[in-house]
Amino acid sequence: MNLRSLVAGCGGYLPEHILTNDALAERLDTSDAWIRQRTGIGERRIAAKGELTSDLAARAAERALKQAGMSGSDVDLIVLATATPDETFPATAVKVQAEIGMKRGVAFDVQAVCSGFIFALAAADNALRLGQAGTALVIGAETFSRILDWNDRGTCVLFGDGAGALVLNAVRDRDGTADQRGVLSTHLHSDGRLHNILYVDGGPSSTGTAGFLRMEGREVFRQAVMHLSEVVEEALAANGLAASDIDWLVPHQANTRIIEAVGRKLGLPAERTIVTIERHANTSAASIPLALDEAAADGRIQRGQLVLMEALGGGLTWGAALVRW
Ligand code: ACO
Repeated sequence: MNLRSLVAGCGGYLPEHILTNDALAERLDTSDAWIRQRTGIGERRIAAKGELTSDLAARAAERALKQAGMSGSDVDLIVLATATPDETFPATAVKVQAEIGMKRGVAFDVQAVCSGFIFALAAADNALRLGQAGTALVIGAETFSRILDWNDRGTCVLFGDGAGALVLNAVRDRDGTADQRGVLSTHLHSDGRLHNILYVDGGPSSTGTAGFLRMEGREVFRQAVMHLSEVVEEALAANGLAASDIDWLVPHQANTRIIEAVGRKLGLPAERTIVTIERHANTSAASIPLALDEAAADGRIQRGQLVLMEALGGGLTWGAALVRW
């Protein structure tokens, strides 16, 4: 029997504290106008002291499960994407497993930075298709505020904290066609030669410290527009679909100029793109599920609609997913 993964619920969680551009400009040589004009960001959320990535993830997971009419005991797989785990080991996913009351199955993390949610979705979708699990939680959760150099205006203004989650159920695939609901396909790429344009300058086996995010912004920008345009075309071609078939583009929220450039290359009107960056900033692996949650909750994304997700992050890593909601 062929199986596919159906979206059963979606949830998001943002920490309470809001850090505006103006508040940043009080302690850094920057301005609200510069940040908005170059990135589209107006404010970001910052996790409270003692509020961990696993806490944000568990709140988002609980909301997604509630929407699906399920509880932790119904889940047999958690794949959690994060570049900011609570601890070096074990995986943040197992802390979430315990927190949501899931007593069976398996939970693990994936590390693909800002592309992490797409990579986690692919891993969970593959497991469901193979019958290795029946219900999966796919989570993107980050506390990037903890790995930012708050004296580096070129990076610290870009990121925020948050978490988002999807519940997927394995269902019978009738005939493999693109008009059925569920995950249609996922497309993953990486190129380790581009490590140095976006990385964290620490870690257990190098410095023994957590380190800070370092980035060559212009080169990341260039690579992002190029690879994201390629991978969305790859996803459409794999399903015999055209850009005009897409109801919603849900991009990783790194920069409005990157989002607009990819939308333009696809020929997709701006009204069909979900953009949350103004209020969330770049929440890395959490940005796509947070955007999905917002657009599903306010009624923009409707059951049966075609949703195209794309992301690029450190590694470099990049990917896309097509989902019929
Ligand atoms: N406030 C004011 N001035 C600033 C700031 C700031 N926060 N940051 C940098 N500047 C200054 C620079 O010092 C530089 O000054 P100089 O000309 O006197 O040297 C000037 O602004 C221009 O700097 P650039 O880095 O060339 O500015 P650019 O137009 O490239 O914008 C940005 C920088 C926003 C980082 C852009 O390159 C970008 O968005 N890149 C994509 C990176 C990204 O999104 N990364 C997220 C992680 S990867 C991902 O998620 C896809």
